[in-house]
Amino acid sequence: MDGNGRWAQQRGLERVDGHAEGARAVRDAVETAARIGVGYLTLYAFSNANWARPRAEVEALMRLLVDFARRERSELRAQGIRVNVIGQLEELPTSTRHAVEELIAYTADGDRMTLSLALSYGGRADIVEAARALAVRARAGLVLPEEIDESSLHREMSTGSLPDVDLLIRTGGETRLSDFLLFEAAYAELVFLPLMWPDFRPATLLEAITAYGRKERRFGKTSAQVQLAEGRSFDPVDTGLS
Ligand code: IPE
Ligand code: MG
Repeated sequence: MDGNGRWAQQRGLERVDGHAEGARAVRDAVETAARIGVGYLTLYAFSNANWARPRAEVEALMRLLVDFARRERSELRAQGIRVNVIGQLEELPTSTRHAVEELIAYTADGDRMTLSLALSYGGRADIVEAARALAVRARAGLVLPEEIDESSLHREMSTGSLPDVDLLIRTGGETRLSDFLLFEAAYAELVFLPLMWPDFRPATLLEAITAYGRKERRFGKTSAQVQLAEGRSFDPVDTGLS
C-alpha cells in the first residue's frame, strides 16, 4: 500500500493525512475482497524498515492502527473477516499491540476471509526466524536436518497458516517488493500500479483480479501440460506453437 505520503504532499497536506486517507482505502479494499470471495488478503501496513521513519510519523501510524482496530472491528466481525498478524507484533507500542490483539480475538470466528496485517514485518527476517526455530528443533533432536523441506520451513514462518500468494499488487509506482512475502510470492502474479494507495478503489481491485484470471499459471511446466491437467485438449494452433 505505497503512496500515502506523496498523495498528501501533492495536495499540500501532511504525510499523516495521507495515511488517514489510506486507511479509508483499506476499508473499501477489504470489504470488496471479502464480498467477491477472496479467501486471504494480506496488507503490508508497516515494515520492519519503517521504524526508521521520523518518530512523529511512526507514532501517527501506530495511532491510526489503534483507531482502525476500534472503528472497524464490528464491521469486520459482521462480514466474517478474521484478522491475523504477520511480523513482529511484540515490537509495537503496548497500546497498539493491545488494540490489534483485541481485534484478533474479537474477529477470531470469522470464516469468510482471513485479513492478515503485516506489522513490523520483513520477509527476510521472517525466513531467518523460521530457520532459527528449525535449528533449535534440530539441536533438541526433534527434527533431522535432512528432513527439512520447503513446507517445514514455511510452517515455522509467520505466514505458516496462509497459502502461497496468487496475486500481489503494489501501488505507488515503484516496481520492487521491498521485502514483502519473499518466500510466499515465489509464483505470484505481480501487478504494479502507478496510482497512490489512497486512490485505490474497489474497481481497481476488480480489474486486477480480472486480469489475473486471464493468466496461465504454469509453475515451471509447459502450457501443453497445464492445459492437459485442466482437462482441456491442447491446441497447438491456439498457442501459436504449431
Ligand atoms: C504508505 O505509503 C506505506 C506505509 C508505510 C504505511 P508511504 O508512506 O510509503 O507513501 P510514500 O511512498 O511516501 O508516498
Ligand atoms: Mg513509500
